[in-house]
Amino acid sequence: MSSPLKHPFVVNVALGERAYDIVIGREVLSCLGERIAALRPGVRAAVVTDCGVAKHWLAKTEAVLAQAGIASAPVVVEEGEGSKSYATLKQVSEALLAARIERNDLVIALGGGVVGDLAGFAAAILRRGVDFVQVPTTLLAQVDSSVGGKSGINSPQGKNLIGAFHQPLLVIADTAALDTLPPRQFRAGYAEVAKYGLLGDAAFFAWLEANHAHIFKGGAAREHAIATSCRAKAAIVARDERETADRALLNFGHTFGHALEAATGFSDRLFHGEAVAIGMVLAAEFSAFLGMIPPSDAERIGRHLAEAGLPTHVEDIAGFAQQRLFDADALTRLMAQDKKVRRGKLTFILLEAIGQAVIAKDVDPALVRDFLAAKLAANK
Ligand SMILES: NC(=O)c1ccc[n+]([C@@H]2O[C@H](COP(=O)([O-])OP(=O)(O)OC[C@H]3O[C@@H](n4cnc5c(N)ncnc54)[C@H](O)[C@@H]3O)[C@@H](O)[C@H]2O)c1
Ligand SMILES: [Zn+2]
Repeated sequence: MSSPLKHPFVVNVALGERAYDIVIGREVLSCLGERIAALRPGVRAAVVTDCGVAKHWLAKTEAVLAQAGIASAPVVVEEGEGSKSYATLKQVSEALLAARIERNDLVIALGGGVVGDLAGFAAAILRRGVDFVQVPTTLLAQVDSSVGGKSGINSPQGKNLIGAFHQPLLVIADTAALDTLPPRQFRAGYAEVAKYGLLGDAAFFAWLEANHAHIFKGGAAREHAIATSCRAKAAIVARDERETADRALLNFGHTFGHALEAATGFSDRLFHGEAVAIGMVLAAEFSAFLGMIPPSDAERIGRHLAEAGLPTHVEDIAGFAQQRLFDADALTRLMAQDKKVRRGKLTFILLEAIGQAVIAKDVDPALVRDFLAAKLAANK
């Protein structure tokens, strides 16, 4: 079958014998079967997805696999973060065994970060590891979670604490899949796109300021934004696959963001990307508080994220004003529980400029608390 695609972007993640391509573009899903058949002739597949994604994209995925002569079995889980659990991992693992996925077969993750993390981990441990392919269908998954090989589930002790590094064989990011994504989910994923500009590419951030409306509409700007984001992540992952150094830069906005997610009970009140948007503004303001960037840079970042429809202050969280969900002490305590804490000091990703993030290891929690207290008091 010849591909209908003219110009997909292909970004390679250069990890030696574990290197793989990320194929980005409108309708690239139609080349899924032929690409898999080229990489693994004669393979059988299971498609792990959630019910929210299945109703839009499962039939099409099964059809393109069948066209390439690949037999596939669907494994459908419930949608939502709750599926990154031991119970759903058991359900998926046993369904993969029942579908007779063998050592040389393949698991396909069709969905957002939840399905990607869950199916990736199931593939990592099934028969001590089978190949898997990511077909990310949320913006967040296309620019972030499908690339880099982190997989896992949550436990009562915290998010992503049980998992494995397991790189995919291939990533197919069909930008048309995003047409069915709820707008609030799209906006949340956009926060991670802006993150790449802020942490390492000032020109990309300026481009986003000028073009974000086109990214939301679709078309060439969306593809360019996703490809640029994937290139940025691929470069960092290739340098530091297991996060011993540089990969931590990808956590820009996330130390504050995770604390906000925890403070709101990881609920729909605040999506991950929304928490990251507020967290990036806080990280920029904290950088300004420490004299590393002018306050006008932090304002510029907040302005752009707000224009993109994202929350940028804790006061934007639903119910915050009425319920005073947390104060500076509570947030600081939550950050001190983060897995990046070492001997009581916090690690933050701070800005030396827009497009230039640095890893600050020994940050005194008292300083963070003072910053947050001043910030929350100013906004009262
Ligand atoms: N592995 C990593 O490196 C990494 C990085 C960032 C985030 N994550 C993880 O990703 C998860 C969040 O991922 P997410 O934001 O993609 O959420 P998600 O996977 O829960 O998807 C969000 C919702 O959108 C629906 N959906 C997905 N694609 C759709 C489509 N095309 N059309 C209609 N509905 C669609 C899903 O059914 C779900 O209800 C978190 O668990 C987070 O820990 C992992
Ligand atoms: Zn994130």
